[in-house]
Amino acid sequence: MASGGITALGATGEEAHMSKVIHATVRAASVSDISHILAEYSEAIKNLPLAESANLLSRPYNEFKAAVENGLFFVIENATGNFMAGAGAFDLEVPGAKELGMCYVKKDWRGFGLQTLLLNIRVCAATLGQVPDASMIADANRSYAALITGVKPANDRSAANTAALGFRPLAAPPPALFSACAACRTPPSPDSGRKCCCDFFYLPDSKRADAIEKSLRMPDWIVTRNDVQLIVSFKIRHLLDPDFRKALQDIVSELRNRGNPESSVQHE
Ligand SMILES: CC(C)(COP(=O)(O)OP(=O)(O)OC[C@H]1O[C@@H](n2cnc3c(N)ncnc32)[C@H](O)[C@@H]1OP(=O)(O)O)[C@@H](O)C(=O)NCCC(=O)NCCS
Repeated sequence: MASGGITALGATGEEAHMSKVIHATVRAASVSDISHILAEYSEAIKNLPLAESANLLSRPYNEFKAAVENGLFFVIENATGNFMAGAGAFDLEVPGAKELGMCYVKKDWRGFGLQTLLLNIRVCAATLGQVPDASMIADANRSYAALITGVKPANDRSAANTAALGFRPLAAPPPALFSACAACRTPPSPDSGRKCCCDFFYLPDSKRADAIEKSLRMPDWIVTRNDVQLIVSFKIRHLLDPDFRKALQDIVSELRNRGNPESSVQHE
């Protein structure tokens, strides 16, 4: 992966000159993590400048808890278990779509592409979330939940990262996407003509296949920035368990072979 000044190195990369190597892990959060994750987000909302904290979209507690219980909220932590970043995939009130949201990378860890890492992981996990049993792969007519994400127009970094992964504008967002607006701290002004402060994007099948394939090939997330190398090890069942990997690989083939390249969401 290469993004701006970032270079991801393989295991044989040019580490020799590195002055510092930092190890981290990414894993699905468990229910016992809920309070400390929420504390991190509360602290961010309290301490970040409004222009930035406004990008950290609040979600109703029940949706967050359900994402954790579904194994669809992920945290990146350093070697001593301190929170570095988090993000989730949320069920919407309508079946057939999931929203990727709540991505937050703590200031000290920005620039290592962790939003992109968390996007890739959520694409895999949220896709597999529809396939609890690998034997269901034989069903060629199965549809996967549409993957949708909301980004505020001013959030250039998120817009760039989601577009780079392949997200495209969603012309007709399902009404269920707006239910989280009730908890929004920064709703659009009434004269803006906007229904929601976010623009919505969906991931086409071909880009979903790309993201899954790329994730399956990634041994670790290794990114060098300035003189620091960050190595994020995967502790993610979706990407480690051979049955789940096989299921994902089969899904890639199926997504690539589809006649209709898109899911049922309307798009531009
Ligand atoms: C948006 C966010 C997740 C991106 O974090 P990230 O994955 O570390 O970003 P990237 O690795 O893609 O960063 C690429 C470059 O942008 C810079 N950058 C990242 N976030 C930035 C921010 N909020 N403000 C200014 N610059 C930022 C990085 O330092 C890096 O700069 P470099 O190329 O000079 O080294 C993070 O800024 C964040 O948590 N912001 C607050 C909440 C938020 O916006 N969440 C997303 C909601 S959709």
